[in-house]
Amino acid sequence: MQRARRPAPSEPVKVLVVGVGHLGKQHARVYRELDGARLVAVVDTDLEKSKAVATNLDVPFSHELTPALLEGVHAASVVTPTPTHLQVASTLVEAGVSVLVEKPMTSTLAEARELLDVAREHGVTLQVGHIERFNPVVLAALPYIQDPVFIECDRIHPFSFRSVETSVVLDLMIHDIDIVLNLVSSPVANLDAVGTRVLSGTEDLANARITFENGCTAVFKSSRVAIQKSRKMRIFCPSSYTSLDYVAKTGMRISLKEGYDREKIDFKRMATLEESQGAYPLFTQYFNIEQLPISSEEPLRGELQAFLLAVRTAQEPVVTGEHGVQAIDIATRILDQIQQSQEAFLRRRHERR
Ligand SMILES: NC(=O)c1ccc[n+]([C@@H]2O[C@H](COP(=O)([O-])OP(=O)(O)OC[C@H]3O[C@@H](n4cnc5c(N)ncnc54)[C@H](O)[C@@H]3O)[C@@H](O)[C@H]2O)c1
Repeated sequence: MQRARRPAPSEPVKVLVVGVGHLGKQHARVYRELDGARLVAVVDTDLEKSKAVATNLDVPFSHELTPALLEGVHAASVVTPTPTHLQVASTLVEAGVSVLVEKPMTSTLAEARELLDVAREHGVTLQVGHIERFNPVVLAALPYIQDPVFIECDRIHPFSFRSVETSVVLDLMIHDIDIVLNLVSSPVANLDAVGTRVLSGTEDLANARITFENGCTAVFKSSRVAIQKSRKMRIFCPSSYTSLDYVAKTGMRISLKEGYDREKIDFKRMATLEESQGAYPLFTQYFNIEQLPISSEEPLRGELQAFLLAVRTAQEPVVTGEHGVQAIDIATRILDQIQQSQEAFLRRRHERR
């Protein structure tokens, strides 16, 4: 059995990018720019695409993964359509190549578990492309999030003709599911969801509400049939509120001032003052309001750097295969709930007729 191939300390990590469509060509560009990596080739079943990207980056190209191409390769990004992830990634893993598999890890939970097992068996690094973990907006907020009580996630996107083979839950909501699971770290106690198809053959709209055993609740709203893009997350903790806007690349945190004591506030008097002064100056007596400093680092760069480090050191990646499986598990439960609520809706409509 081929075990994981890792670079010698003096050697660059030799990488392939498999699938150089919309996102894969960005992976190839970033690897080409990163110190410590050598982009060995780009691979795409569409030879014209791989040739165009390869010519631009001045690297070899291929339309298939051959044993000769895999010789000496340490790592690869799998950026092919989701239904092909298991097959493409398994071919690489079985040759001892560590993989960064784009999100969602696979189309089904069974496939995700299978890929995790193959990766463990061969001892390779398996990272999943939950890129929001490397988003500077999220990274700026992380140090302040303690024991979240309520989280609201909006991910609204104009329609794209790509990725319609997967529902909006696996396509968009899964980004928020992964972030929330990482913030909450508690088993799911209850889950409810509704959703519908609009333009594609899979769900284009979905709303879900998850309650965790530790008492935190998260609400997810995802759509890919909007005119404008909106990606926001609001996180309420016992003494702070953090509001993140991924599109505007901003983050704001409001926290109770030290020594705040609800018992000592004369709310009646404050309500009278509010009439003449407005709420804001009164509000700031009790709360700190700060804009979070957001770095301009490209999330993909951070993600690929973390992958290269995990490949080189054999340490656990930031986003593991287990995280990928957990996110798909929750997404699958949301999809099951959506199906149940759709069936109940059709039943009721039929009964009314
Ligand atoms: N992390 C993110 O934010 C994010 C964003 C967009 C897409 N994605 C994921 O990335 C993956 C690709 O999405 P995309 O939008 O780039 O799709 P795309 O259709 O633009 O590109 C996919 C490419 O893979 C090629 N391909 C198909 N089967 C192949 C195979 N067996 N071997 C080699 N090449 C093959 C296609 O010819 C195409 O060029 C999907 O899983 C998607 O969910 C993730």
